[in-house]
Amino acid sequence: MAETLMDHTSTAWMDQVIIRFADASDLPAMEWDGEYTHFRRVYADAYRRQIAGLTLLWLAELPQTGLIGQAFVQLTCDRPELANGTERAYFYSFRVRSAYRGLGLGSRIMDVVETDLVKRHFQIVTLNVARTNFRAQTLYMRRGYYVVATDPGIWSYPDQNGIWHHMEEPAYRMEKRLVPVTPRKNPLN
Ligand SMILES: CC(C)(COP(=O)(O)OP(=O)(O)OC[C@H]1O[C@@H](n2cnc3c(N)ncnc32)[C@H](O)[C@@H]1OP(=O)(O)O)[C@@H](O)C(=O)NCCC(=O)NCCS
Repeated sequence: MAETLMDHTSTAWMDQVIIRFADASDLPAMEWDGEYTHFRRVYADAYRRQIAGLTLLWLAELPQTGLIGQAFVQLTCDRPELANGTERAYFYSFRVRSAYRGLGLGSRIMDVVETDLVKRHFQIVTLNVARTNFRAQTLYMRRGYYVVATDPGIWSYPDQNGIWHHMEEPAYRMEKRLVPVTPRKNPLN
């Protein structure tokens, strides 16, 4: 199990962490020993979107241990203020196994995600963070994200048995500009 193998006195494990895209064989392990079984259909749908080139599923894997972190990115969705396929991408489903938190892995995952988005010529990352999640807000603010709106955070998902759950998680919408805007050339010069 992931939690039992970590050496808290050393960060050597961090050098071994591989951050990569999910493949179909990862789907069972993405349920994290039952903690996220209720998202089985959500993850399967996200994986289908990855195959279609609409979503990216990033996983952090520690060899011999398993998956210890993840972050998904929607490149496009039905809310263009979040992701519009060309400039804006939406960062979500971000989590690190509790035994590995506060050690820099989340920041490393975000580095990888943001660098990849720059390569894809995206300019803005958007995300929603629960209004009560002060630690994540601190992390995002330190990385240059700022609040642009409030969001009622209403969404629904079908669990592994097809039963729909309706969620209400009031959130702040935050954004970060990935690449500086190139100043426009003054046509008079
Ligand atoms: C948010 C999360 C993914 C960050 O991952 P992480 O590996 O803890 O991130 P880092 O170690 O790079 O932490 C960077 C900073 O984030 C903050 N932080 C966020 N969550 C933290 C936690 N649970 N424990 C300790 N620090 C945390 C700290 O201020 C930390 O600062 P530090 O560098 O001075 O320690 C992780 O804490 C997590 O899975 N939390 C639960 C799920 C969640 O809230 N996801 C975000 C939804 S928007």
